[in-house]
Amino acid sequence: MQIKSSDRIFVAGKTGSGKTTLVKKMLFPMYTRRVFWDIKLENSDLAFCCTICTTPDELRSSIKKGKTSILYQPKSLEPFDFNRVCQILYETGNFTLFVDEVSRVCTPSWIEPWHDEIMTRGRGRGVGIVNLTQRPRRCHNTVISEAEHFFIFRLQLETDIAKIKEILPRQWANQVSSLPYHHCIYSDSVGTIKPLAPIRL
Ligand SMILES: Nc1ncnc2c1ncn2[C@@H]1O[C@H](COP(=O)(O)OP(=O)(O)O)[C@@H](O)[C@H]1O
Ligand SMILES: [Mg+2]
Repeated sequence: MQIKSSDRIFVAGKTGSGKTTLVKKMLFPMYTRRVFWDIKLENSDLAFCCTICTTPDELRSSIKKGKTSILYQPKSLEPFDFNRVCQILYETGNFTLFVDEVSRVCTPSWIEPWHDEIMTRGRGRGVGIVNLTQRPRRCHNTVISEAEHFFIFRLQLETDIAKIKEILPRQWANQVSSLPYHHCIYSDSVGTIKPLAPIRL
């Protein structure tokens, strides 16, 4: 598995399936310039290695001061706030944004403009993104179509599995509803596809 900091990653699975743990324990430590967007305020355990920011202005000034590892816990739940975060990282360049729960900021028919910019043009600025969701059916297609890496955990709803069939070959997608908790299927855009056992905690 070869992941670059400017790549786009999509992580899906029902609540409790192990998404956030995989991202925090395996992916997040691989990056040196990183922002973890934590709308649910569930990831304060990252505070030991991160500067906490709660507004776009704080984020901008922390980056100016040379901070490169940031836990963003938004004061405002408005999608506008998330859009500003995306804009700041896009304009700064060479950052990776982790979005734990992306379906809070997009719908199948709406994606914030700077989120879209990162998805479609982030690579050129060295900006990568890791989008997590428990409801792939509720995500904007760009979040899926532009991704180079997929980590798919257990999912149960038929509509979500139908969405996964657009990503994984049918024989793999059919296994998603019976995946044990903390197991996932990894796939990339160049044809790799394999099961991943739970990471060791
Ligand atoms: N690889 C693992 N080994 C052991 N426990 C795990 C593993 N992955 C997740 N868990 C546990 O399962 C629970 C749910 O994991 P979490 O990553 O929060 O799920 P999600 O983000 O999909 O809702 C947590 O208590 C976590 O500690
Ligand atoms: Mg989670």
